[in-house]
Amino acid sequence: MQTKLIGSTDGLEQGGKGLRFDVKNASGDVMPAFVIRYDSQYFAYLNKCGHIAVQLDYMPGEFFSDDGESLICATHGAEYAPDTGACNGGPCYGIGLEPLKISQQGEQLFLDSDSLDVVKTEAG
Ligand code: FES
Repeated sequence: MQTKLIGSTDGLEQGGKGLRFDVKNASGDVMPAFVIRYDSQYFAYLNKCGHIAVQLDYMPGEFFSDDGESLICATHGAEYAPDTGACNGGPCYGIGLEPLKISQQGEQLFLDSDSLDVVKTEAG
């Protein structure tokens, strides 16, 4: 499994801003993605709502609900579990976020994928 640098864990806190980055598949399609911290762990997903294929954040990096317990789509309010991406309510109708496998080495986060490349990151 190849690892590709996403960025630093600096500033990633539960309920705080996530780290946005882009991935590219073998066909050359570039897709927005993000990492958040939840319950002392880091989780990454494609930035694509299960309802309509739009990005979730209402401002760049703002994914969490006010209580820090859900990820919310700004368009119609679909809610997702931060640790699984499962649809927890609203118009995602059971369609969760697509998780990305990541790993941590020290203060750096890496995408673990043989099929996706990290092509842009907003930090680190
Ligand atoms: S597009 Fe996300 S809830 Fe409708």
